[in-house]
Amino acid sequence: MSTALITGPTAGIGKSIAYQLAEKGYDLFLVARREDRLQDLKSDIENKFQVRVHYLKSDLASPDAPQEIYDYGKGMNLDISTLILNAGYQINTKLEEATLQEEEDCLRVLGLSVIMQSKLYIKDLMSRGGGHIMVVSSMAGFSPPSTEFAILYGPVKTFMNRFVEALNGAYNKNNIYSTALCPGFTVTEFHTMSGTQDRMDKVPSFMKLSADQVAQEGIDGMFKNKEIVIPGNLNRLLISVLRFFPTGAIKWIGNKIAGGRYK
Ligand SMILES: NC(=O)c1ccc[n+]([C@@H]2O[C@H](COP(=O)([O-])OP(=O)(O)OC[C@H]3O[C@@H](n4cnc5c(N)ncnc54)[C@H](OP(=O)(O)O)[C@@H]3O)[C@@H](O)[C@H]2O)c1
Repeated sequence: MSTALITGPTAGIGKSIAYQLAEKGYDLFLVARREDRLQDLKSDIENKFQVRVHYLKSDLASPDAPQEIYDYGKGMNLDISTLILNAGYQINTKLEEATLQEEEDCLRVLGLSVIMQSKLYIKDLMSRGGGHIMVVSSMAGFSPPSTEFAILYGPVKTFMNRFVEALNGAYNKNNIYSTALCPGFTVTEFHTMSGTQDRMDKVPSFMKLSADQVAQEGIDGMFKNKEIVIPGNLNRLLISVLRFFPTGAIKWIGNKIAGGRYK
């Protein structure tokens, strides 16, 4: 079986995707910073499923990371057919408060590393006759950007959705299909890691999905060659009616659900 590269498999959505792809028989190439978790994942997944798991400790905020990851995979002779570009976080500060380095790191992880990894693998996917690229984006890519904290997060996710569209436009003819998985509120470590757990706690539970459900809908959509996957019936309904709402109304509702995003 071919190999799926997954960034950010040590928690949340990426971890669920790792287990679900292993269950489907994919070998895995896992990339994240926390090596102890990568090692545990390798042992657990190889015990549970008949697959090989490779991993590389790597910080995607480093400009060298995409090339290092690619070179490592080449060195191991991995036949990578599927890229799951999922790693991410947000900066819970105002634009003027974060340092230039903090903003650059976050933009690299959420945006530039996704583009560079896709670029590096595209020729290999063409030579092997096709493949899949999933970018884990966000519903934030469709909503008005936050005016208070993490104001670049939504715009970068919009860019990632457009990047996926561009990849499809250029490479569907080579049998390479890209998917932007756009989750809404999902129960993972994302909010604790970014210091926004208090806001997440205020979100009604019927609006939250599990990482397993998001992963499953993402994988199903990816293998059906869908360009955009919004997991959850309620989220799909929200996105389809959002375009008829004035921006002011969306911000008002956004603040009611998880206050602090807009002033
Ligand atoms: N949770 C939500 O409500 C939600 C909603 C919409 C979209 N998303 C998107 O979903 C994706 C996954 O997030 P999640 O919710 O599953 O969060 P999570 O539970 O915090 O997992 C984030 C993963 O990204 C990895 N990561 C973070 N920074 C990294 C770096 N510099 N280098 C390498 N790996 C890094 C982490 O691994 P290490 O720390 O081990 O490096 C971890 O495995 C993100 O792109 C996020 O924007 C999440």
